[in-house]
Amino acid sequence: MNTEVPQPLSGVKVIDFTGVQAGPACTQMMAWFGADVLKVERLDGGDVTRHQLRDIPDHDALYFTMLNSNKRSLAINTKTPEGLAVMEKLIREADVLVENFAPGALDRMGLSWDHIHELNPRLIFGSVKGFNEQSPWKDLKVYENVAQAAGGALSTTGFWDGPPTVSSAALGDSNTGMHLLIGILTALLAREKTGVGQKVSVSMQDAVLNLCRVKLRDQERLEAVGYLEEYPQYPNTPFGDAVPRGGNAGGGGQPGWVLKCKGWQDDPNSYIYFTIQEQNWAKTCEAVGKPEWVDDPAYSTAEARQPHIFDIFADIEKWLADKTKYEAVDILRTYDVPCAPVLSMKEIAYDPALRASGTVVEVEQEGRGKYLTVGSPVKFSDFSPTITGAPLLGEHTIDVLSDLGYTTDQIAELKTAHVI
Ligand code: COA
Repeated sequence: MNTEVPQPLSGVKVIDFTGVQAGPACTQMMAWFGADVLKVERLDGGDVTRHQLRDIPDHDALYFTMLNSNKRSLAINTKTPEGLAVMEKLIREADVLVENFAPGALDRMGLSWDHIHELNPRLIFGSVKGFNEQSPWKDLKVYENVAQAAGGALSTTGFWDGPPTVSSAALGDSNTGMHLLIGILTALLAREKTGVGQKVSVSMQDAVLNLCRVKLRDQERLEAVGYLEEYPQYPNTPFGDAVPRGGNAGGGGQPGWVLKCKGWQDDPNSYIYFTIQEQNWAKTCEAVGKPEWVDDPAYSTAEARQPHIFDIFADIEKWLADKTKYEAVDILRTYDVPCAPVLSMKEIAYDPALRASGTVVEVEQEGRGKYLTVGSPVKFSDFSPTITGAPLLGEHTIDVLSDLGYTTDQIAELKTAHVI
């Protein structure tokens, strides 16, 4: 790694007017990549996640620290004329402003896109809302699972005989933040050519749907042919007119399922995900001790296997019965079978390889000590992000105001007037 190379986003000034997860996830990654990210927070407690699900009394919750590392914090009442004036000064000097308040909140505060664009035509304004501007639900406040419901994830997740099911992956929150980040970086590149900033909006419904793309594919296939051959329902259960929940079936053309391993009776995660790759059928049969399946016409093609695919999985489970999930994967990998152990969060937290790659990192947080967080999933050949602690509420208020030209007396007045 070349240590002389500046951080990729160094020099980019970001006003982080965000809360909860979607906005903070976006700006946190900008901070990791070198941007100067200033979190602007309410005086009364700041970002709500500072207080939610606290594990140590009187210390910012992990929910906050894990989404706001590498940032600075300005605590200010932006609903006062003096607070708004500070925001306007910041906007004039910034490259990016990101927000994810409830619909209309920024306008009510006096910071409409038109006004922001007028203050600083070069500034890029990133905005997250639950629904896009054309939606009949555009006025709704939205959290993670609401977005998963509206984006198609719930209706297509879970088992066919159970209710719609949420994913534990933050498809509505962090995923929307990552989409916004792509948009903001694109707008920064566009600004190189035009000299002008623009508004970048991402709705949580749209971002969820973007990850449910293959389910829309399935809807169109279903309407065309009346069935979906890779779903467990096929061929014995009739399909309705919408994509059903497919349990743990593989989403592509490769059937897969979650299979029990040794100890599953006592360990809720003693399973592997097993994939039958069409072009690897012969080796897969060899791996699970069933060489006779290779040329048997009832097994040798995907079409022949599908009607009794669960009997095949049950036979593979018999082979797995005396193997732990790790032993099973170690054997199967030598036969090129796409598979993985189902890892618990505990296993992930202590996984030495995830630590070595910087995907799970230990961070020092003032007052708390060390805690674990998920580091950058993006790896660069010339740069490696250093993850530092999250700011205390208002930790940088005085510094920021001094940098903006406020004198000590003026800062004292703002304090007396409860603006800061
Ligand atoms: N000083 C003064 N007021 C401030 C402030 C500051 N520094 N920062 C925020 N506020 C105000 C807002 O202007 C708003 O005031 P208003 O409602 O009187 O106009 C108020 O605080 C509350 O804002 P907000 O956090 O948006 O409302 P909420 O807590 O009721 O709703 C959400 C939270 C997440 C549901 C809502 O923000 C939302 O739907 N956001 C868009 C989608 C989203 O990002 N969801 C979360 C994904 S993790």
